[in-house]
Amino acid sequence: MFKLAALFVIFTFTECTYGATWVYSQGPYGPENWLNSYDACGTMSQSPIDIVHGATVADEKLGKFNRTTFTAIPDKMTLLNNGHALQVNLEGGYTVSDRNVLPGDYQAFQFHLHWAAVNQSRGSEHWIDGKQYFAELHIVHYNTKYASIGEALTQHEGLAVLGVFVAIGSETNENIDLLLNPIAQIQQYNQQMIYSSKFDIGRFLPEDLENYYRYSGSLTTPPCFESVVWTVFNEPIYISRAQAETLQTSLYARANSTDLVGGNYRLPQPLHDRKISRPGKSGASPLTSTILLHVTSMLVTAYALRF
Ligand SMILES: *[C@@H]1O[C@H](CO)[C@@H](O)[C@H](O)[C@H]1NC(C)=O
Ligand SMILES: *[C@@H]1O[C@H](CO)[C@@H](O)[C@H](O)[C@H]1NC(C)=O
Ligand SMILES: *[C@@H]1O[C@H](CO)[C@@H](O)[C@H](O)[C@H]1NC(C)=O
Ligand SMILES: [Zn+2]
Repeated sequence: MFKLAALFVIFTFTECTYGATWVYSQGPYGPENWLNSYDACGTMSQSPIDIVHGATVADEKLGKFNRTTFTAIPDKMTLLNNGHALQVNLEGGYTVSDRNVLPGDYQAFQFHLHWAAVNQSRGSEHWIDGKQYFAELHIVHYNTKYASIGEALTQHEGLAVLGVFVAIGSETNENIDLLLNPIAQIQQYNQQMIYSSKFDIGRFLPEDLENYYRYSGSLTTPPCFESVVWTVFNEPIYISRAQAETLQTSLYARANSTDLVGGNYRLPQPLHDRKISRPGKSGASPLTSTILLHVTSMLVTAYALRF
């Protein structure tokens, strides 16, 4: 009993000093237990969520993202295997300063990917009407009214994340090859590579920057701070099956381990009393259009079957 208590003390101390380990697999460090070490992971406005389109609210104050913003080339870009994801750290990233799309000036500082484990096809964090995509790209920005990213991280609306779904299509996505071609150089945990030829982030966005979902949520990994203004674009981008497999089989999650990075998504969290909005004329209920769509398809079916 005493020994157990002593062990516990040492263990707790280590956690406090170094920050607890967390993983995506089930177990003492798995998603169900993140809240034991990170209080915020168990609070009321967590991310990701399953977005039920029919329950979203049109907001005419929400505008379209300006593609030109995203064409600026960062000063420095570093590709990294952080053991949880494939990430690109940015220095001198662009800033979105458009109050029609975000409630402040938000500077990009990194982007990363979440994806399905080997031989799995579902790996996005957000779901739409119960559908989970293959992967999800997160472009992370901080509100420049705060002195540093560290300070913004804990503040309401301190961060803005743009989420882009990644689906599997028939063609190679050459933009994604910018992340996959050098992947062998960062195969081991904590390896990184500085790009000699930098590129813009706009190339990872879908064509449609007008239709998206907006809600207030959190980081999807510990410490799960509820500081994020979320934007989840409706339209996915596509990668080939071969690219998906490269992503799934290239990165090791820990030193001296053959565990691969992948299946690195958190399941949808309760919405509680939060509202999800989307650009559009107020009063235009998506339910009405869904019903119309159903009636139309029933009529088309009836016509086709001639009954
Ligand atoms: C988009 O941003 C660019 C560069 O800041 C600006 O010149 C252009 O007018 C903007 N377009 C719209 C539609 O706001
Ligand atoms: C994935 O599927 C292949 C082919 O069916 C199989 O050989 C391999 O062991 C599977 N890998 C995992 C991690 O399940
Ligand atoms: C990994 O293995 C190498 C060589 O066996 C060893 O020197 C190193 O300490 C190990 N690292 C960890 C984190 O276990
Ligand atoms: Zn993420």
